[in-house]
Amino acid sequence: MERLNLKNISIKTFTPEDEKKWEEDQKMLKIKEIELRKLDYKMSMGFLKNEKIPSFKEFNPKLQNKNSNSYKEILDLLETVKRWSESDKGWLTLIGGVGVGKTHLLKSAIFRANGYYLTAYEFDQRIKDFRSGMEDKNTLIFTDPDEWLSRIANMKRHLVIDDIGAGYIQRGWTLSRFERLIDLRYRNQLPTAIATNLDEKTLDLELGERINSRIRDRNYAIVKIISYGQDIRRINRNDKY
Ligand SMILES: Nc1ncnc2c1ncn2[C@@H]1O[C@H](COP(=O)(O)OP(=O)(O)OP(=O)(O)O)[C@@H](O)[C@H]1O
Ligand SMILES: [Mg+2]
Repeated sequence: MERLNLKNISIKTFTPEDEKKWEEDQKMLKIKEIELRKLDYKMSMGFLKNEKIPSFKEFNPKLQNKNSNSYKEILDLLETVKRWSESDKGWLTLIGGVGVGKTHLLKSAIFRANGYYLTAYEFDQRIKDFRSGMEDKNTLIFTDPDEWLSRIANMKRHLVIDDIGAGYIQRGWTLSRFERLIDLRYRNQLPTAIATNLDEKTLDLELGERINSRIRDRNYAIVKIISYGQDIRRINRNDKY
């Protein structure tokens, strides 16, 4: 029998330092994996890679003047959006001026409910890209925009369409697709919220009767008009927390 020549075999010996380094590398890999998973999760809700997602906890109605109507109004807004995030079929429309906290609360709701956040601008882009073809902003996989529309119209997840009235939805083609989205979600009774700066009358005019009748269905839709809330962007928030 041939004898094994141990001189030709190099066996790596692990020093305690090697071992420590290996353990650190493993830890780093785990952290990276968790970060990637978090990012995936974030993007699956429609958020951008570096977007900060504000929480309900960070929302402080006391930033509004405590002794005024605006405080009560904004406290009520917080409670309403929280309830919406917990309901599985509610409809919510937020109408109010700039900086009162609409987007903050709707993003918090989407994060809590693992829903999908979208702006009217993004909706418009998606629908227009139907005709030229595009890549999915999140997955980088091509999705036919009509297919995309039908997916978001039928998904059970909470859906937010923010910033309606910044001039995007209310144009022929986009409006007709938006009407289809609203109609499908309405018929399926799926939780949907929209937010706008437009006043009630202008919203009615811009979106048309069919959409308005649905978002105002008294059986399960709430329209919240914020009339007193102040623009919190004008307030130095850090001092007040
Ligand atoms: N009550 C609050 N507590 C803490 N932060 C707030 C509050 N209200 C608003 N903010 C902060 O003020 C900024 C503006 O709020 P937000 O973007 O939600 O306003 P908006 O109503 O969506 O305004 P716009 O109509 O201009 O989109 C955000 O940074 C938000 O986190
Ligand atoms: Mg906003």
